[in-house]
Amino acid sequence: MTVLNTIKNRRSIHNFKEELVDLEMLKEIFTYGSYAPSHYMKEPWEIKLFQEDGKVQFVHAIIESYQRLGMIRNDEEPKTIKMKDSMKKFLLSIPHHALIYFQKEADPVRQEEEYAAVCAFIQNSQLAAWEYGVGMLWTITPYMQDPEFYRAVDLHAAEVKIAAVMQIGYPKSIPRDKGRTPIEEKLEIIE
Ligand SMILES: Cc1cc2nc3c(=O)[nH]c(=O)nc-3n(C[C@H](O)[C@H](O)[C@H](O)COP(=O)(O)O)c2cc1C
Repeated sequence: MTVLNTIKNRRSIHNFKEELVDLEMLKEIFTYGSYAPSHYMKEPWEIKLFQEDGKVQFVHAIIESYQRLGMIRNDEEPKTIKMKDSMKKFLLSIPHHALIYFQKEADPVRQEEEYAAVCAFIQNSQLAAWEYGVGMLWTITPYMQDPEFYRAVDLHAAEVKIAAVMQIGYPKSIPRDKGRTPIEEKLEIIE
């Protein structure tokens, strides 16, 4: 598998087998991720990996945040209970959730540098994972803006920013390649 094939063939995975990925393999995947470029070699990425019983606290924090944000009703109606249960079941069925965060910077240029480096780390990790047969889904969700959610996962919203939550596991199915817009439509050559 060449890096070019991996770039083209990797897909975002939405259905995972209920099977843990070996921790040593995940460490290798994130080690490849960390070969991402970062200004001043800051390597700003930090990872909280939720798996097995650790997922219970994480999923609870997500559901509470969705209730605070009004995305799930805050009542005990059967419809609400059903919705919470199905969300819980779905999130708990995903073998690993990797919360990727970094230290906030007061200087907006530095903040952008750190975020860009973290995104490079995430994509490197996704590509490395693909080579190991492991799938990921890069997610950005409203709870990442909720300071109470940060507290629930032992982080401080004033100090750190959550860049993404990666869902991780062996793919149950692989979506089709949706293709891409021809680059000529994105490329303006000034000469
Ligand atoms: C920053 C970012 C955030 C994303 N957030 C979500 C998300 O919240 N939910 C989701 O299903 N996919 C999410 N995706 C995955 C995209 O839907 C996916 O990359 C796109 O459809 C192209 O599919 P592919 O990755 O299989 O080529 C996100 C991707 C990026 C880069």
